[in-house]
This record gives sequence, structure tokens and C-alpha cells, in this order.
Amino acid sequence: MPLPLSPVLRTQETYPFVRLNEAAAARRAAGLEVVDFGMGDPREPTDPAIMQALRDGVRERMGYPAAAGLPELRQAVAAWAARRFGVELDADHVVPTLGSKEAIFSFAQVVLDPSAGKDTVLLTEPGYPVYERGALFAGARAERLPLLERNGFLPDLDAVPEETWRRAALVWVNYPNNPTGACAPLALYERLAGLAREHGFVLASDEAYSELWFEQQPVSALQLDERTNVAVFNTLSKRSSMTGYRCGFVAGDPELVAALRRFRPSIGTVPQEFVQRAAAVAWSDDAHVERARSAYARKRALLLDALARKGVRVAGSEATMYLWVACPDGESSEVFAARLLEHGVLVAPGTFLGPSGEGYVRFALVPTEEECARGVELLARAL
Ligand SMILES: Cc1ncc(COP(=O)(O)O)c(C=O)c1O
Repeated sequence: MPLPLSPVLRTQETYPFVRLNEAAAARRAAGLEVVDFGMGDPREPTDPAIMQALRDGVRERMGYPAAAGLPELRQAVAAWAARRFGVELDADHVVPTLGSKEAIFSFAQVVLDPSAGKDTVLLTEPGYPVYERGALFAGARAERLPLLERNGFLPDLDAVPEETWRRAALVWVNYPNNPTGACAPLALYERLAGLAREHGFVLASDEAYSELWFEQQPVSALQLDERTNVAVFNTLSKRSSMTGYRCGFVAGDPELVAALRRFRPSIGTVPQEFVQRAAAVAWSDDAHVERARSAYARKRALLLDALARKGVRVAGSEATMYLWVACPDGESSEVFAARLLEHGVLVAPGTFLGPSGEGYVRFALVPTEEECARGVELLARAL
């Protein structure tokens, strides 16, 4: 008898970035050079004060961490939100998460209610694959809202049928956006939050890149006058280059927070307390974030200049660590990415992030400045 296997798992393709890493590994194994602009895993160093707090947080006896998280971490998040967005956030309405990925993945399970006709999750594409994967594993219908350059990479809400809003349990948006680098105006959150209350769905705003900006500070859905039906997800992964620590949070509507607090003890994904103590230090300091932003700005300027010299167009890309680069002369995403890889430059084909990514590739500005400079030399030959 064959092993039973979830049909969602059976029919799902390999996680796109696993494929990308395999392509890089194969090239390296053949002794060839790769400058890796593929996955958005920051290689900036983590601030020494944060590392020290982690070490200091290790105790002789460490029991299970409480699902609600340490008060000092929740207070540090609330204080950051006040400094950064000028908003009041009750520390009791902040839920620490093990990075934001697990919380994003499982959120559909918290809000989906097919028996009440709430069986649909809306998400934007091209985008982070986890909104859709989490929705499908929760048994939801997933509907994609395309992000097109002609709309400033914002979803066309007028094109969504009334019936879809009625069936929606959850609507995901992500600004500053991975992969397009576009930012949203507060008006988008206002309109979506209004629709959420009118039709009874949850607006989930994934703000993982809110701190990686260059000219203008991005806004947050936390700034909405009314946060009913709204949940905001953020993380230290990109802000503080702490992908390996795994620490993020969800905050927003107290009723949603209460639901999460009922749900999360069953899954056991609260960060270790020593990570939470390091995270409290990270949210309490802005200087290291300023330094990381400056490093990204320098790398961004280097790449923008190299691409402009070759007449390659960069779309969106106002914020985040990504450049969303238009393929030259109607070349497809996969063909352009393969051509760059032949010259040692690894980028993600836009189609890895959704069908509307066709015609673009994504550069993650994660190599060091020195590696980026080498990447620019390789690009000059490739383009
Ligand atoms: C849009 C977006 N949201 C969330 C995440 C999750 O980050 P983490 O789980 O490291 O907090 C990522 C990671 O790449 C991302 O790109």
C-alpha cells in the first residue's frame, strides 16, 4: 500500500528557492564562480549587542517558554511601534512568533470557517509563496490578485467580484513588497480595512520589509485609526539581519490576538526565551538598523548604476532589499535568469514568485559590498 500523503503536498512543486539553491550549488560544485543575488537571506552581520543579549539569556534551567511571550519583548515591540509609527500598541496585543513564516503559514487555520461560507484566502502575486501554501494546507480556496506595474504594483480592488469578498476569510497584502519593492499608501490599508469590516474578513498585512527603505519611510497598517479585523505581521529577520534567530510578532485587533493566543499553545512555536531576550534588545535599538539601511543603499546604488549603464530597466524597487528588474527585449524571466547564471550572477526568475512575475527577475541585495562589486563586473559581461 502506498504511504498516505496530503494531496496538497503531493501536487505542490518544490519550494522555488530550493530550486535556486540547487542551481547555485551545482555551479559551485563544478568549480565555477557564483555571486548569489537569489534568496533574501541577509548576510549583514547581526549587531554585537544583540548577540551578547542572546548569550546572557542562556540560563542553567530553561523550561518551556510561555506561548504569550516575555513581557519585556512585547513591551519592546510596543515601544518600537510608538517611535517608528507614532502609534499606541498595548504590549498585551503583541504575540511573539518564531520568525513570521510559521505564523503566516498557519494563520488561515485560525480564521477560516467554510461552514459559514468563509472559505477563501486572497493573496497578491508575484509574492511570498507562504500565503498560498498556508491557505491550501488549511483547506482554503486561494485566489490571487495580480500586482501589475501599470497599477504601481498595487492590487486592483475594483476588479474583485462581490462574491469573492463575501467568501473571503483572509486577505494578505505585503508592503513594502517582496518582490517588486513597491510601497503602499495608507489609503490602501484604509480601503481594505473598510472592506474587511463590511464583508467580515481579516486583513493581514505582512510588513517584513518595513525598515528597509531608502527615501521615504513606509507606512504601516498599525497606523489605521481603527484596527478591527486587522492583523500586522513583522519580523527581525530583515530589519536586524536575524533570519537564523527566528523572531517576529503579530499585533492588531485584540479579538484576533485573543484567538491567536488560544491557537498557538497547540503548535509550540514560541521563540526560545534567550532569543526573545535578544529580540527585545534588537527592537529597542535603531542605530544598527540605520547602519544596515546604509549598507543596502550603497549596494543598491552600485547595482542601479550598472543596470542603467546597460539600459536595463528597474521597475518599482522603492524599498526592500530587492531590485525588480525588467527582462531586456521580451526575453522570458527564466531565459534571462539562466543567461545571467551562465556568467555567474544568480537571480530569481520573476515567475518563481507568481505568473505576473513573467518579464522580470529579482535581485536580492544580500551579497557583501565587495561581492556586489564583483557581481557588477560579471553583469557588465553578461548584458
Ligand atoms: C514577504 C515576506 N514575509 C515574511 C517573510 C518571513 O520571514 P521570517 O520568517 O524570517 O520572519 C519573508 C522572508 O523572506 C518575506 O519575504
